[in-house]
Amino acid sequence: MPRSPANNTLAPLLRQLAGKLGDRQAASELRWMAAHVRKTLGDTAARTEHSGAQYRRARLWRDQPAPSTEEADLDARRFSSVQWAWLRQAVADRVEKHKPLQYILGSQPFGKTEIGVRSPVLIPRPETEEWVLRLAESLAAHHAARPPPPPPPGAPSPPLSILDACTGSGCVALGLASELPPGAARIAGVDVSADALALALSNQTRNAAVLNNEVEFHQIDLLAADTASRLEALRPGGWDMIVANPPYVTPAEYRGLDADVRDWEDVRALVPMPLRVADELDPSGVSFIERLAVLARALRLAREGALASPALPRLVVEIGGAKQTEPARQAMHDNGFGRTEVWKDMAGTDRAVLGYAEK
Ligand SMILES: C[S@@+](CC[C@H](N)C(=O)[O-])C[C@H]1O[C@@H](n2cnc3c(N)ncnc32)[C@H](O)[C@@H]1O
Repeated sequence: MPRSPANNTLAPLLRQLAGKLGDRQAASELRWMAAHVRKTLGDTAARTEHSGAQYRRARLWRDQPAPSTEEADLDARRFSSVQWAWLRQAVADRVEKHKPLQYILGSQPFGKTEIGVRSPVLIPRPETEEWVLRLAESLAAHHAARPPPPPPPGAPSPPLSILDACTGSGCVALGLASELPPGAARIAGVDVSADALALALSNQTRNAAVLNNEVEFHQIDLLAADTASRLEALRPGGWDMIVANPPYVTPAEYRGLDADVRDWEDVRALVPMPLRVADELDPSGVSFIERLAVLARALRLAREGALASPALPRLVVEIGGAKQTEPARQAMHDNGFGRTEVWKDMAGTDRAVLGYAEK
């Protein structure tokens, strides 16, 4: 493979990126791009070195820092012309087209899974990963504490039937399936978008080695009149829990979003569409959350059911901060949920509302 001139360094690309992102973020993103180009377009030795568990565990936002600038620069001096061409294109896409880093790198870690990402399907966010891992931990504890089932003795407890409404890339469904002990859950992810479903299915294949539980994906419009009966048909024995990161951005917030989000991620993944096409957009952004509470009631999740422990939530929805907390809780109470709880994210922002069945 032809080598690029030995005096090639990352400095000009860093300056280009810093104009858009500021020095600190530019340095971090460029190191990730350099690590990626080394891993995917490098020689066999580089690919082997960078493709193990160490690379997979790396995080864009936290946990592990990106490789240092010195390391990246050392790599860059050995880059081939093909690798330089990729890097220059990536930086141009980031600066001129506002392409998000995750779409450039092509994947995003989420718990134990590595989620492939492709525009316009929403990039999994760290706030979502946080509540999903917390939920998985309490479900796993519940599973471990479950009493042995009635005869035949030793028969396994039935798995929890969990619906991931608004599955997108499949990160929530696949994240839960990988975190929960084998046989603890049977999970279905649904979405209206064909792009999302295709990506979720490819992510299921990509992560097969870490999935402990059954996952299936279906194309279903959660705003359609026949949604409840379609969901019932998927689980004639009933659902135990709905989890969702639904669209909840207000139209006003959407207008203020960076081009990185607005130009690349599906508006339907961000802003809740009205139930009827002719209706106005909801200025508060909570209409989809209200819809999920109505669906949960129709699926009899507000009443105590097959779940062994009333301490487990039946509806878990992500929200966009404190302004949506009360409307989300109200929607759950209006639909028969006896108790609600709020989880904050790492920044201290209200991030998920959980509804529990009435006693
Ligand atoms: C905020 S994204 C969440 C994606 C993924 N769960 C995540 O956390 O990254 C919302 C998802 O809801 C889907 N969606 C929007 N309207 C829908 C509808 N009427 N029925 C089903 N899914 C819908 C979008 O296609 C999008 O994938």
